[in-house]
Amino acid sequence: MQIEKILIVEDDLIARKNLDQQLRKWNYEVKQAASLADARRHLDSDAFDILILDVDLPDGHGPDILKEIQNHRQKPMVIMSTGFGSVDSAVECIKAGAFDYLIKPTSPQQLEITLKKAELFNQLVQVNHYHNSIDEDEGSELLGRTEQMKQVRKLIRTVARTQATVLIQGENGTGKELVAKALFRESPRKDKPYIKVNCAAISENLIESEFFGHEKGAFTGAVSKRVGRFELADTGTILLDEISEISLPLQTKLLRVLQEREFERVGGNRTIRVDVRVIATTNRDLKQSVRNNEFREDLFFRLNVIPIQVPPLRDRIDDIIYLADHFLKRFTRKNGIKVAGLSQRCQDALLKHNWPGNVRELQNSIERGVILCGDAKF
Ligand SMILES: Nc1ncnc2c1ncn2[C@@H]1O[C@H](COP(=O)(O)OP(=O)(O)OP(=O)(O)O)[C@@H](O)[C@H]1O
Ligand SMILES: [Mg+2]
Repeated sequence: MQIEKILIVEDDLIARKNLDQQLRKWNYEVKQAASLADARRHLDSDAFDILILDVDLPDGHGPDILKEIQNHRQKPMVIMSTGFGSVDSAVECIKAGAFDYLIKPTSPQQLEITLKKAELFNQLVQVNHYHNSIDEDEGSELLGRTEQMKQVRKLIRTVARTQATVLIQGENGTGKELVAKALFRESPRKDKPYIKVNCAAISENLIESEFFGHEKGAFTGAVSKRVGRFELADTGTILLDEISEISLPLQTKLLRVLQEREFERVGGNRTIRVDVRVIATTNRDLKQSVRNNEFREDLFFRLNVIPIQVPPLRDRIDDIIYLADHFLKRFTRKNGIKVAGLSQRCQDALLKHNWPGNVRELQNSIERGVILCGDAKF
């Protein structure tokens, strides 16, 4: 997560100038304030990622502003800056919500380490925030005992190790998202962010900002800067779910990200570079979409480095009862209902059905069955 704007709050002119110079050398956007009043003016009119805050200021105590910041829309991280004699008060500030402290005079190395740490922390907070806002599916293991599913799992193990872009194709409910998750879990990036974008669920006019983020004021309603999913996924993996649904202009922008791993936020002109592994899914025949001029051919080739085809359930009949048994166990446990098992009649019916909704349909049918039949055999 990149830090861009820093506000230095420091009354000592020389210390302030030195800091300012150093930070500008590293291409940060820097503003200076010599007093608390000055700092408040800046905070009201501008958004900062970081505040470097002196403890003792002519019109008050630096920490006073810490409390005020907690209510700010774009809460900057605060790094206290203090003389050797007042380390205790800096520690107090950390207790009150400051991120770290620097001892004056601050060496460039020390400053650099602290900013790097802040960057990493910022990313973790955002990723965590993102994960808390999505529902995690419980059973996320890709089950199946048929040869086709064994092949899929083998392919996952082979390509998970690499950085290659993967395109997962298959009908609705075949388990494409589970395949993507398995690719992530078995990859060297498993401890890094895993960020999902459902391209079909986000409206056309918001999706670009969802991908790349936006700057404050980029469009009506953009009240503060927003980091996009590609930036959140930096050093990790991004899942572009239902990729066929994005518009042609956005396809062009996506192509650039896949080729160059760089982009600009909506309304911004700073180029942001990311290191992201891309996984995409689709339930459409993308080759057909290319022929219909609905999908860019060059983007298709970029995505289709490693294709994984997830077969429909009707083509792997031996998985039907196996999966049904598994779901039966899961839902009886979850609902505290006792069920003896699947009757022969039920098994015959399951095997006869064509499963247009694939594993999701099977899973839902079993869940419904468990709930409706109560403590009986069905
Ligand atoms: N092989 C499998 N083993 C266990 N559960 C599975 C399997 N395949 C699918 N499921 C379950 O079925 C449901 C649908 O799977 P998933 O969301 O991965 O499908 P999908 O292919 O992404 O579907 P859609 O195209 O509708 O988005 C999920 O609840 C998933 O846990
Ligand atoms: Mg899906």
